[in-house]
Amino acid sequence: MQERQGSRAMKNLNNLVKDVLIRWSLQQVTSAGVATVEVLDVCSGRGGDQMKFLQAPISTVRLCYNAVDIAEAQILEAQKRLRQRLPLEWLESCRFFIGDVTLLAPTLPDEPLPWQHIVSIQFALHYAFKSKASARSFLHNATGRLCGGGLLIITTVDSSKIGEFARQAAEKQEFVFKNELAKISFDEVSLPRCDLDSKVWLGLSIRPHR
Ligand SMILES: C[S@@+](CC[C@H](N)C(=O)[O-])C[C@H]1O[C@@H](n2cnc3c(N)ncnc32)[C@H](O)[C@@H]1O
Repeated sequence: MQERQGSRAMKNLNNLVKDVLIRWSLQQVTSAGVATVEVLDVCSGRGGDQMKFLQAPISTVRLCYNAVDIAEAQILEAQKRLRQRLPLEWLESCRFFIGDVTLLAPTLPDEPLPWQHIVSIQFALHYAFKSKASARSFLHNATGRLCGGGLLIITTVDSSKIGEFARQAAEKQEFVFKNELAKISFDEVSLPRCDLDSKVWLGLSIRPHR
């Protein structure tokens, strides 16, 4: 119970940070006079952020929410949650895509995705850092339809902290780091291969625990 309090506090903090960032981005875009705001939620997961976008208190604009994730189950759950919470007519302005963003960009069957005013990548960019090439390709595909003057909002992990945690685990010949706020497992294959003095952490596979 006590152990979970830390991770719950982290989750609340993460949600607060995302909420502030999302509201700020919507305000920026709408104050520039955009009437229909297109948003692309990259690595959307189970749709934790869709309601943050759709319920931000801006009544004068129409919001088109687009979401892409590699995991079909996550997208199905996001759609289900949305159906439970939104009036039917709102759902028509939402699009969902399943795909690996390191490999391809979300595209409609016969045309490109409309230009996006906001591209949001929340707690997911680090998954693309298997190599420099996959990170570049991910960012290229995620932002390919971002319009001129559009906003890219990202939250991700602090790689220097992850590096520090990895070093501490490796020193103890363990593959888990744990403190009062977080528990992270490191992959037994990729951790020994990493340069522990590096400032750039590529290819280190981590699994955060909730
Ligand atoms: C930690 S979750 C974050 C979900 C959501 N953005 C949030 O903040 O609640 C990371 C998500 O990234 C997705 N993901 C990881 N690699 C991906 C990739 N290459 N392409 C698309 N989605 C990916 C996972 O399936 C997962 O749903």
